[in-house]
Amino acid sequence: VTAGTGALLRLTDLHHALDTPIAESMNFLDEVTHQYPDAISFAAGRPYEGFFDLDDVHYYLERYRDHAMAWHGDDEVVVRRLVLQYGRTKGIIHDLIAQNLAVDEDIKVSPESIVVTVGCQEALFLTLRALRRDENDVLLTALPRHVGVTGAAHLADMRMLPVREDSGGLDVDDLVDVVRRAKAEGLRPRACYVVADFANPSGTSLSRETRKRLLQAAEEHDFLILEDNPYGVFDAGGERPPTMKSIDTLQRVVYLGSFAKTGFPGARIGYVVADQRVARGDEGHELLADQLGKLKSMLTVNTSPIAQAVIGGKLLANDYSLRTANTRQREVYRRNLCLLVDELNRWFPPDSRRGVSWNVPAGGFFLVLKLPFEAGDDLLEYSAREHRVLWAPMHHFYGDGIARDRIRLAFSHLTPDEITAGVSRLAAFVSEQCTTRREG
Ligand SMILES: Cc1ncc(COP(=O)(O)O)c(C=O)c1O
Repeated sequence: VTAGTGALLRLTDLHHALDTPIAESMNFLDEVTHQYPDAISFAAGRPYEGFFDLDDVHYYLERYRDHAMAWHGDDEVVVRRLVLQYGRTKGIIHDLIAQNLAVDEDIKVSPESIVVTVGCQEALFLTLRALRRDENDVLLTALPRHVGVTGAAHLADMRMLPVREDSGGLDVDDLVDVVRRAKAEGLRPRACYVVADFANPSGTSLSRETRKRLLQAAEEHDFLILEDNPYGVFDAGGERPPTMKSIDTLQRVVYLGSFAKTGFPGARIGYVVADQRVARGDEGHELLADQLGKLKSMLTVNTSPIAQAVIGGKLLANDYSLRTANTRQREVYRRNLCLLVDELNRWFPPDSRRGVSWNVPAGGFFLVLKLPFEAGDDLLEYSAREHRVLWAPMHHFYGDGIARDRIRLAFSHLTPDEITAGVSRLAAFVSEQCTTRREG
Protein backbone atom coordinates (compact mmCIF):
# COMPACT_ATOMS: atom_id res chain seq x y z
CA VAL A 1 0.00 0.00 0.00
CA THR A 2 1.41 3.43 -0.96
CA ALA A 3 2.00 6.07 1.70
CA GLY A 4 -0.92 8.50 2.07
CA THR A 5 -2.09 11.24 4.36
CA GLY A 6 -5.00 9.45 6.07
CA ALA A 7 -5.09 7.77 9.47
CA LEU A 8 -1.96 5.78 10.22
CA LEU A 9 -2.10 2.71 12.43
CA ARG A 10 0.88 0.68 13.57
CA LEU A 11 0.99 -3.10 13.17
CA THR A 12 2.53 -3.25 16.63
CA ASP A 13 -0.62 -1.61 18.06
CA LEU A 14 -2.90 -4.28 16.56
CA HIS A 15 -3.55 -7.85 17.74
CA HIS A 16 -0.33 -9.87 18.03
CA ALA A 17 -1.72 -12.61 15.73
CA LEU A 18 -1.18 -10.17 12.85
CA ASP A 19 2.49 -9.98 13.65
CA THR A 20 3.24 -13.73 13.44
CA PRO A 21 4.75 -15.73 10.53
CA ILE A 22 1.53 -17.68 9.99
CA ALA A 23 -0.43 -14.47 9.32
CA GLU A 24 1.68 -14.26 6.15
CA SER A 25 1.78 -18.02 5.42
CA MET A 26 -1.50 -18.42 3.58
CA ASN A 27 -1.15 -15.11 1.73
CA PHE A 28 2.26 -16.14 0.52
CA LEU A 29 1.10 -19.53 -0.80
CA ASP A 30 -1.91 -17.89 -2.50
CA GLU A 31 0.29 -15.22 -4.08
CA VAL A 32 2.79 -17.70 -5.49
CA THR A 33 -0.08 -19.84 -6.82
CA HIS A 34 -1.63 -16.84 -8.60
CA GLN A 35 1.70 -15.59 -9.89
CA TYR A 36 2.49 -18.91 -11.63
CA PRO A 37 -0.87 -20.21 -12.85
CA ASP A 38 0.74 -22.79 -15.15
CA ALA A 39 2.70 -24.35 -12.27
CA ILE A 40 1.57 -27.76 -11.00
CA SER A 41 0.62 -27.34 -7.36
CA PHE A 42 1.31 -29.90 -4.67
CA ALA A 43 0.83 -26.99 -2.25
CA ALA A 44 -2.92 -26.62 -1.76
CA GLY A 45 -4.78 -29.24 0.31
CA ARG A 46 -7.96 -28.86 -1.70
CA PRO A 47 -10.52 -31.53 -2.49
CA TYR A 48 -10.71 -32.88 -6.05
CA GLU A 49 -12.86 -30.60 -8.25
CA GLY A 50 -13.63 -33.08 -11.03
CA PHE A 51 -17.00 -33.97 -9.48
CA PHE A 52 -18.06 -30.43 -8.50
CA ASP A 53 -21.49 -29.71 -9.97
CA LEU A 54 -23.63 -26.63 -9.20
CA ASP A 55 -26.76 -28.66 -9.94
CA ASP A 56 -25.99 -30.74 -6.84
CA VAL A 57 -26.58 -27.65 -4.72
CA HIS A 58 -30.18 -27.39 -5.98
CA TYR A 59 -30.71 -31.11 -5.65
CA TYR A 60 -29.47 -31.24 -2.05
CA LEU A 61 -31.46 -28.14 -1.12
CA GLU A 62 -34.60 -29.86 -2.44
CA ARG A 63 -33.77 -33.00 -0.48
CA TYR A 64 -33.45 -30.97 2.68
CA ARG A 65 -36.69 -29.08 1.92
CA ASP A 66 -38.62 -32.34 1.48
CA HIS A 67 -37.18 -33.65 4.74
CA ALA A 68 -38.03 -30.43 6.63
CA MET A 69 -41.56 -30.32 5.14
CA ALA A 70 -42.22 -33.88 6.28
CA TRP A 71 -40.82 -33.08 9.71
CA HIS A 72 -42.86 -29.87 10.09
CA GLY A 73 -46.20 -31.22 8.87
CA ASP A 74 -45.91 -29.69 5.40
CA ASP A 75 -45.96 -26.19 6.88
CA GLU A 76 -44.21 -24.15 4.21
CA VAL A 77 -44.05 -21.00 6.32
CA VAL A 78 -42.10 -22.82 9.02
CA VAL A 79 -39.71 -24.42 6.52
CA ARG A 80 -39.12 -21.13 4.70
CA ARG A 81 -38.34 -19.50 8.03
CA LEU A 82 -36.04 -22.36 9.02
CA VAL A 83 -33.87 -21.90 5.93
CA LEU A 84 -34.13 -18.16 5.22
CA GLN A 85 -34.50 -16.46 8.61
CA TYR A 86 -31.96 -15.93 11.37
CA GLY A 87 -31.70 -19.36 12.91
CA ARG A 88 -30.91 -21.51 15.92
CA THR A 89 -27.41 -20.60 17.14
CA LYS A 90 -26.27 -24.22 17.50
CA GLY A 91 -27.52 -25.02 13.98
CA ILE A 92 -30.36 -26.83 12.19
CA ILE A 93 -28.67 -30.01 10.91
CA HIS A 94 -27.35 -31.20 14.28
CA ASP A 95 -29.65 -34.25 14.23
CA LEU A 96 -28.46 -35.23 10.74
CA ILE A 97 -24.82 -34.84 11.83
CA ALA A 98 -25.48 -37.05 14.86
CA GLN A 99 -26.84 -39.73 12.49
CA ASN A 100 -23.80 -39.34 10.23
CA LEU A 101 -21.42 -39.79 13.16
CA ALA A 102 -23.23 -42.96 14.21
CA VAL A 103 -23.19 -44.40 10.67
CA ASP A 104 -19.63 -43.53 9.62
CA GLU A 105 -17.70 -43.37 12.88
CA ASP A 106 -19.70 -45.35 15.44
CA ILE A 107 -19.87 -42.17 17.53
CA LYS A 108 -23.10 -41.98 19.50
CA VAL A 109 -23.89 -38.51 20.80
CA SER A 110 -26.95 -36.45 21.48
CA PRO A 111 -27.72 -33.86 18.75
CA GLU A 112 -27.86 -31.30 21.57
CA SER A 113 -24.11 -31.71 22.10
CA ILE A 114 -23.39 -30.55 18.53
CA VAL A 115 -22.78 -26.95 17.43
CA VAL A 116 -22.79 -26.39 13.66
CA THR A 117 -20.10 -23.84 12.83
CA VAL A 118 -18.67 -21.78 9.99
CA GLY A 119 -16.12 -24.41 9.00
CA CYS A 120 -14.08 -26.39 11.47
CA GLN A 121 -12.03 -23.23 11.91
CA GLU A 122 -14.81 -21.52 13.87
CA ALA A 123 -15.30 -24.68 15.94
CA LEU A 124 -11.61 -24.65 16.82
CA PHE A 125 -11.63 -20.98 17.72
CA LEU A 126 -14.78 -21.22 19.87
CA THR A 127 -13.37 -24.23 21.74
CA LEU A 128 -10.00 -22.62 22.45
CA ARG A 129 -11.63 -19.30 23.35
CA ALA A 130 -13.91 -21.07 25.84
CA LEU A 131 -11.06 -23.08 27.41
CA ARG A 132 -8.76 -20.11 27.79
CA ARG A 133 -9.74 -18.31 30.97
CA ASP A 134 -6.38 -16.63 31.55
CA GLU A 135 -2.74 -16.67 30.43
CA ASN A 136 -2.00 -19.86 32.40
CA ASP A 137 -4.30 -21.93 30.19
CA VAL A 138 -2.24 -23.67 27.51
CA LEU A 139 -2.82 -25.99 24.56
CA LEU A 140 -0.70 -29.06 23.77
CA THR A 141 -0.07 -29.92 20.12
CA ALA A 142 2.28 -32.14 18.16
CA LEU A 143 4.61 -30.31 15.81
CA PRO A 144 4.29 -29.87 12.84
CA ARG A 145 0.59 -28.89 13.09
CA HIS A 146 -2.34 -27.72 10.95
CA VAL A 147 -2.00 -23.95 10.37
CA GLY A 148 -5.64 -23.52 11.41
CA VAL A 149 -4.94 -24.52 15.00
CA THR A 150 -1.95 -22.20 15.21
CA GLY A 151 -4.11 -19.34 13.91
CA ALA A 152 -7.02 -20.11 16.23
CA ALA A 153 -4.69 -20.32 19.25
CA HIS A 154 -3.06 -17.00 18.40
CA LEU A 155 -6.46 -15.39 17.98
CA ALA A 156 -7.65 -16.84 21.29
CA ASP A 157 -4.42 -15.64 22.97
CA MET A 158 -3.67 -19.21 24.01
CA ARG A 159 -0.10 -20.36 24.36
CA MET A 160 0.81 -23.67 22.71
CA LEU A 161 3.27 -26.23 24.11
CA PRO A 162 4.83 -28.58 21.55
CA VAL A 163 4.83 -32.35 22.00
CA ARG A 164 7.22 -34.70 20.18
CA GLU A 165 5.94 -36.86 17.33
CA ASP A 166 7.05 -40.47 16.96
CA SER A 167 6.21 -43.18 14.44
CA GLY A 168 2.89 -43.71 16.26
CA GLY A 169 2.04 -40.04 15.58
CA LEU A 170 2.37 -38.56 19.06
CA ASP A 171 4.82 -39.43 21.82
CA VAL A 172 2.51 -39.90 24.82
CA ASP A 173 5.45 -40.15 27.26
CA ASP A 174 6.70 -36.78 26.08
CA LEU A 175 3.16 -35.41 26.34
CA VAL A 176 2.93 -36.49 29.98
CA ASP A 177 6.35 -34.91 30.67
CA VAL A 178 5.24 -31.65 29.07
CA VAL A 179 2.03 -31.68 31.13
CA ARG A 180 3.93 -32.33 34.38
CA ARG A 181 6.47 -29.58 33.68
CA ALA A 182 3.73 -27.14 32.70
CA LYS A 183 1.80 -27.83 35.90
CA ALA A 184 4.98 -27.39 37.97
CA GLU A 185 5.32 -23.92 36.42
CA GLY A 186 1.76 -23.04 37.41
CA LEU A 187 0.31 -23.52 33.92
CA ARG A 188 -2.97 -25.33 33.20
CA PRO A 189 -2.80 -27.64 30.17
CA ARG A 190 -6.45 -27.55 29.08
CA ALA A 191 -6.38 -29.72 25.98
CA CYS A 192 -4.28 -31.62 23.48
CA TYR A 193 -5.08 -31.03 19.80
CA VAL A 194 -4.67 -34.05 17.50
CA VAL A 195 -5.56 -35.12 13.98
CA ALA A 196 -5.60 -38.88 14.67
CA ASP A 197 -6.33 -39.93 11.07
CA PHE A 198 -4.10 -38.95 8.13
CA ALA A 199 -2.88 -35.72 9.71
CA ASN A 200 -2.28 -32.42 8.00
CA PRO A 201 0.61 -31.89 7.28
CA SER A 202 2.40 -35.14 8.21
CA GLY A 203 -0.04 -37.74 6.83
CA THR A 204 0.54 -39.89 9.94
CA SER A 205 -2.16 -41.65 11.94
CA LEU A 206 -2.25 -42.54 15.62
CA SER A 207 -2.07 -46.25 16.33
CA ARG A 208 -4.90 -47.86 18.31
CA GLU A 209 -2.50 -48.19 21.24
CA THR A 210 -1.55 -44.48 21.12
CA ARG A 211 -5.23 -43.49 21.04
CA LYS A 212 -5.91 -45.54 24.17
CA ARG A 213 -2.85 -44.20 25.97
CA LEU A 214 -3.78 -40.64 25.06
CA LEU A 215 -7.28 -41.11 26.49
CA GLN A 216 -5.77 -42.56 29.67
CA ALA A 217 -3.30 -39.69 29.97
CA ALA A 218 -6.11 -37.16 29.50
CA GLU A 219 -8.10 -38.77 32.30
CA GLU A 220 -5.11 -39.15 34.60
CA HIS A 221 -3.78 -35.63 34.11
CA ASP A 222 -7.14 -33.92 33.62
CA PHE A 223 -7.08 -32.37 30.18
CA LEU A 224 -9.35 -32.64 27.14
CA ILE A 225 -8.50 -34.05 23.73
CA LEU A 226 -9.50 -32.00 20.70
CA GLU A 227 -9.85 -34.65 17.98
CA ASP A 228 -10.00 -33.00 14.54
CA ASN A 229 -11.09 -35.44 11.85
CA PRO A 230 -11.59 -33.91 8.39
CA TYR A 231 -9.89 -36.75 6.45
CA GLY A 232 -11.07 -39.89 8.29
CA VAL A 233 -13.28 -41.24 5.48
CA PHE A 234 -10.40 -41.04 3.01
CA ASP A 235 -8.50 -44.20 3.97
CA ALA A 236 -6.33 -45.75 1.29
CA GLY A 237 -7.99 -49.14 1.73
CA GLY A 238 -6.59 -50.50 4.99
CA GLU A 239 -8.38 -50.84 8.30
CA ARG A 240 -8.54 -47.68 10.39
CA PRO A 241 -8.46 -47.66 14.22
CA PRO A 242 -11.61 -46.30 15.87
CA THR A 243 -11.88 -42.55 16.40
CA MET A 244 -11.00 -41.56 19.94
CA LYS A 245 -14.49 -40.12 20.39
CA SER A 246 -16.05 -43.51 19.66
CA ILE A 247 -14.07 -45.18 22.48
CA ASP A 248 -14.22 -42.21 24.86
CA THR A 249 -16.39 -43.36 27.75
CA LEU A 250 -15.50 -40.44 30.01
CA GLN A 251 -16.24 -37.48 27.75
CA ARG A 252 -12.61 -36.46 27.50
CA VAL A 253 -12.82 -35.87 23.73
CA VAL A 254 -14.18 -32.76 22.06
CA TYR A 255 -14.68 -33.88 18.45
CA LEU A 256 -14.20 -31.41 15.59
CA GLY A 257 -15.68 -32.05 12.16
CA SER A 258 -15.60 -30.42 8.76
CA PHE A 259 -17.58 -30.85 5.56
CA ALA A 260 -14.88 -29.02 3.60
CA LYS A 261 -13.44 -32.25 2.20
CA THR A 262 -16.51 -34.50 2.37
CA GLY A 263 -19.14 -31.92 1.30
CA PHE A 264 -18.02 -28.68 -0.35
CA PRO A 265 -15.40 -26.27 1.04
CA GLY A 266 -17.55 -23.43 -0.35
CA ALA A 267 -20.39 -24.31 2.02
CA ARG A 268 -18.10 -23.45 4.96
CA ILE A 269 -19.80 -25.93 7.29
CA GLY A 270 -18.10 -27.63 10.21
CA TYR A 271 -19.14 -28.61 13.71
CA VAL A 272 -18.01 -29.46 17.19
CA VAL A 273 -19.29 -32.23 19.45
CA ALA A 274 -18.92 -31.00 23.03
CA ASP A 275 -20.85 -33.33 25.34
CA GLN A 276 -18.82 -32.39 28.43
CA ARG A 277 -20.84 -31.12 31.39
CA VAL A 278 -20.11 -27.63 32.70
CA ALA A 279 -20.98 -26.99 36.34
CA ARG A 280 -22.72 -23.69 37.03
CA GLY A 281 -22.31 -21.91 40.34
CA ASP A 282 -25.80 -23.03 41.48
CA GLU A 283 -25.07 -26.79 41.32
CA GLY A 284 -26.77 -27.08 37.91
CA HIS A 285 -25.06 -28.35 34.77
CA GLU A 286 -25.06 -27.35 31.13
CA LEU A 287 -23.26 -28.81 28.15
CA LEU A 288 -19.99 -27.38 26.91
CA ALA A 289 -21.81 -27.21 23.54
CA ASP A 290 -24.20 -24.66 25.09
CA GLN A 291 -21.28 -22.50 26.24
CA LEU A 292 -19.77 -22.68 22.75
CA GLY A 293 -23.19 -21.70 21.38
CA LYS A 294 -23.17 -18.60 23.60
CA LEU A 295 -19.73 -17.60 22.28
CA LYS A 296 -20.92 -18.27 18.74
CA SER A 297 -23.86 -15.93 19.24
CA MET A 298 -21.30 -13.20 19.93
CA LEU A 299 -19.19 -14.04 16.88
CA THR A 300 -21.17 -15.28 13.85
CA VAL A 301 -24.70 -15.37 15.36
CA ASN A 302 -25.57 -18.56 13.50
CA THR A 303 -24.15 -20.60 10.63
CA SER A 304 -25.85 -19.95 7.27
CA PRO A 305 -28.96 -22.18 7.32
CA ILE A 306 -28.90 -22.21 3.50
CA ALA A 307 -25.42 -23.75 3.49
CA GLN A 308 -26.47 -26.13 6.29
CA ALA A 309 -29.49 -27.21 4.23
CA VAL A 310 -27.24 -28.10 1.27
CA ILE A 311 -24.96 -30.23 3.46
CA GLY A 312 -28.00 -31.68 5.24
CA GLY A 313 -29.44 -32.66 1.84
CA LYS A 314 -26.20 -34.38 0.92
CA LEU A 315 -26.37 -36.42 4.14
CA LEU A 316 -30.02 -37.31 3.50
CA ALA A 317 -29.29 -38.31 -0.11
CA ASN A 318 -26.60 -40.75 1.06
CA ASP A 319 -28.31 -42.40 4.04
CA TYR A 320 -26.18 -40.19 6.31
CA SER A 321 -22.93 -41.74 5.09
CA LEU A 322 -20.14 -39.49 3.86
CA ARG A 323 -18.21 -42.62 2.98
CA THR A 324 -20.97 -43.47 0.48
CA ALA A 325 -21.27 -39.84 -0.67
CA ASN A 326 -17.56 -39.83 -1.45
CA THR A 327 -17.18 -43.21 -3.15
CA ARG A 328 -15.71 -41.65 -6.33
CA GLN A 329 -13.53 -39.18 -4.42
CA ARG A 330 -12.14 -41.94 -2.20
CA GLU A 331 -11.06 -43.77 -5.32
CA VAL A 332 -9.39 -40.66 -6.75
CA TYR A 333 -7.43 -40.01 -3.55
CA ARG A 334 -6.33 -43.65 -3.33
CA ARG A 335 -5.26 -43.68 -6.97
CA ASN A 336 -3.42 -40.36 -6.56
CA LEU A 337 -1.54 -41.50 -3.47
CA CYS A 338 -0.43 -44.73 -5.21
CA LEU A 339 0.62 -42.84 -8.33
CA LEU A 340 2.53 -40.20 -6.38
CA VAL A 341 4.44 -42.88 -4.46
CA ASP A 342 5.13 -44.81 -7.69
CA GLU A 343 6.43 -41.67 -9.41
CA LEU A 344 8.62 -40.78 -6.42
CA ASN A 345 10.05 -44.30 -6.53
CA ARG A 346 10.66 -43.93 -10.26
CA TRP A 347 12.52 -40.61 -9.97
CA PHE A 348 14.27 -41.40 -6.70
CA PRO A 349 14.91 -45.17 -6.97
CA PRO A 350 16.29 -47.06 -3.96
CA ASP A 351 19.83 -47.21 -5.40
CA SER A 352 19.91 -43.45 -6.07
CA ARG A 353 17.66 -41.71 -3.56
CA ARG A 354 20.07 -38.75 -3.27
CA GLY A 355 19.05 -38.10 0.33
CA VAL A 356 15.35 -37.89 -0.56
CA SER A 357 12.78 -39.93 1.37
CA TRP A 358 9.06 -39.81 2.07
CA ASN A 359 6.37 -41.44 4.17
CA VAL A 360 3.50 -43.49 2.74
CA PRO A 361 0.36 -42.50 4.66
CA ALA A 362 -2.59 -44.86 5.07
CA GLY A 363 -4.91 -42.24 3.56
CA GLY A 364 -5.76 -38.55 3.51
CA PHE A 365 -4.48 -35.78 1.26
CA PHE A 366 -0.79 -35.36 2.15
CA LEU A 367 2.65 -36.88 2.41
CA VAL A 368 5.94 -35.38 3.55
CA LEU A 369 9.07 -35.38 1.41
CA LYS A 370 12.44 -35.13 3.14
CA LEU A 371 15.08 -33.31 1.09
CA PRO A 372 18.88 -33.14 1.39
CA PHE A 373 18.61 -29.32 1.80
CA GLU A 374 16.44 -26.77 3.59
CA ALA A 375 13.48 -25.56 1.58
CA GLY A 376 11.83 -22.29 2.63
CA ASP A 377 9.69 -19.68 0.89
CA ASP A 378 12.56 -18.37 -1.27
CA LEU A 379 13.17 -21.82 -2.75
CA LEU A 380 9.45 -22.34 -3.28
CA GLU A 381 9.32 -19.13 -5.28
CA TYR A 382 12.34 -20.31 -7.28
CA SER A 383 10.80 -23.75 -7.84
CA ALA A 384 7.58 -22.11 -9.10
CA ARG A 385 9.43 -19.70 -11.41
CA GLU A 386 12.09 -22.01 -12.83
CA HIS A 387 10.46 -25.44 -12.61
CA ARG A 388 6.74 -24.64 -12.55
CA VAL A 389 6.06 -26.83 -9.55
CA LEU A 390 4.67 -25.79 -6.16
CA TRP A 391 4.83 -27.47 -2.77
CA ALA A 392 4.32 -26.33 0.84
CA PRO A 393 7.45 -25.49 2.86
CA MET A 394 7.25 -27.24 6.23
CA HIS A 395 7.94 -24.14 8.29
CA HIS A 396 4.34 -23.03 7.69
CA PHE A 397 3.34 -25.91 9.96
CA TYR A 398 5.78 -24.93 12.71
CA GLY A 399 4.70 -21.29 12.63
CA ASP A 400 8.22 -19.95 13.18
CA GLY A 401 9.39 -19.03 9.66
CA ILE A 402 12.53 -21.21 9.97
CA ALA A 403 13.17 -23.28 6.82
CA ARG A 404 13.19 -27.10 7.25
CA ASP A 405 14.49 -29.92 5.06
CA ARG A 406 10.94 -31.17 4.57
CA ILE A 407 8.08 -30.19 2.31
CA ARG A 408 4.40 -31.21 2.25
CA LEU A 409 2.98 -32.65 -0.97
CA ALA A 410 -0.80 -32.56 -1.39
CA PHE A 411 -2.06 -35.03 -4.00
CA SER A 412 -5.82 -34.60 -3.55
CA HIS A 413 -6.83 -32.20 -6.32
CA LEU A 414 -4.46 -33.29 -9.12
CA THR A 415 -5.09 -35.42 -12.21
CA PRO A 416 -2.81 -38.40 -12.95
CA ASP A 417 -1.09 -36.43 -15.74
CA GLU A 418 -0.44 -33.55 -13.38
CA ILE A 419 1.04 -35.89 -10.77
CA THR A 420 3.32 -37.53 -13.33
CA ALA A 421 4.49 -34.22 -14.76
CA GLY A 422 4.67 -32.63 -11.30
CA VAL A 423 7.00 -35.28 -9.88
CA SER A 424 9.30 -35.04 -12.91
CA ARG A 425 9.51 -31.26 -12.38
CA LEU A 426 10.13 -31.78 -8.69
CA ALA A 427 12.89 -34.28 -9.46
CA ALA A 428 14.54 -31.77 -11.83
CA PHE A 429 14.36 -29.10 -9.12
CA VAL A 430 15.85 -31.40 -6.46
CA SER A 431 18.58 -32.64 -8.77
CA GLU A 432 19.53 -29.07 -9.76
CA GLN A 433 19.63 -27.96 -6.10
CA CYS A 434 21.86 -30.92 -5.16
CA THR A 435 24.26 -30.12 -8.01
CA THR A 436 24.35 -26.40 -7.21
CA ARG A 437 25.07 -27.10 -3.57
CA ARG A 438 27.79 -29.67 -4.37
CA GLU A 439 29.49 -27.25 -6.76
CA GLY A 440 29.00 -24.23 -4.50
C1 LIG B 1 -6.55 -30.57 10.12
C2 LIG B 1 -7.64 -29.78 9.47
N1 LIG B 1 -8.73 -29.45 10.18
C3 LIG B 1 -9.76 -28.80 9.59
C4 LIG B 1 -9.71 -28.44 8.26
C5 LIG B 1 -10.92 -27.80 7.61
O1 LIG B 1 -11.28 -26.62 8.16
P1 LIG B 1 -12.54 -25.87 7.61
O2 LIG B 1 -13.74 -26.72 7.84
O3 LIG B 1 -12.59 -24.60 8.41
O4 LIG B 1 -12.34 -25.61 6.14
C6 LIG B 1 -8.58 -28.72 7.51
C7 LIG B 1 -8.47 -28.25 6.14
O5 LIG B 1 -7.47 -27.82 5.65
C8 LIG B 1 -7.52 -29.42 8.12
O6 LIG B 1 -6.44 -29.78 7.43
